[in-house]
Amino acid sequence: MIVAPSLLSADFATLKQQVAAVEKAGADYLHLDIMDGHFVPNITFGAQLVRDLRPHSKLIFDVHLMVEHPDEYFADFCRAGADIITVHVEACNHLHRTVQNIKQLGIKAGVALNPATPLSGIHYVLDEVDMVLLMTVNPGFGGQKFIDAVMPKVERLKQLTANLERNVDIQVDGGINENTAPGAVAAGANILVAGSFVFGAEEVSKPIEILRQL
Ligand code: DX5
Ligand code: ZN
Repeated sequence: MIVAPSLLSADFATLKQQVAAVEKAGADYLHLDIMDGHFVPNITFGAQLVRDLRPHSKLIFDVHLMVEHPDEYFADFCRAGADIITVHVEACNHLHRTVQNIKQLGIKAGVALNPATPLSGIHYVLDEVDMVLLMTVNPGFGGQKFIDAVMPKVERLKQLTANLERNVDIQVDGGINENTAPGAVAAGANILVAGSFVFGAEEVSKPIEILRQL
């Protein structure tokens, strides 16, 4: 299982140390939540932070853009050191073009769907994307309750990607912990994003180990 701690739940006063801690504990990705106060009702950080953290970590930088007009920003995040950039289908007028343009930068492209968004919106780009992120909370904040109703969508997506010749990762994000992750994994997810479960623990190594073992 690929474990992606979400920096959103870390103490922002000691980010460098906290990134080092999750890396040491065996995390695979660092999930970076970018919020603009428009697409979601919260504001986090921009490309500068990604750029500043980049030299201090070998983790795969997994940038989740929860912004309007993502086309105006993804190149900045790529230059800052992102390895994967995920855009929301709800924020893209020309999703196919956006995915192509991200991949042209030589990095991986993901598409994210809010809990209420059906899979039909990504049907015709599934062949192009490297990862699909299914939100298991409404995006905007860490520490929210996992939405069980998304699980059939994970199962359906798993069936669809199994028919493809190439690998498409399935990421779940929101409310992931030791109680909710097993169901998501059984449904077909192979990348687990976890914010409060990881950074809320006394020792980040424990939750990371629990998720890795699933
Ligand atoms: C929510 C973000 C998540 C968030 C998850 O909008 O996309 O990545 O940090 O936090 P938890 O794991 O606490 O739900
Ligand atoms: Zn996220």
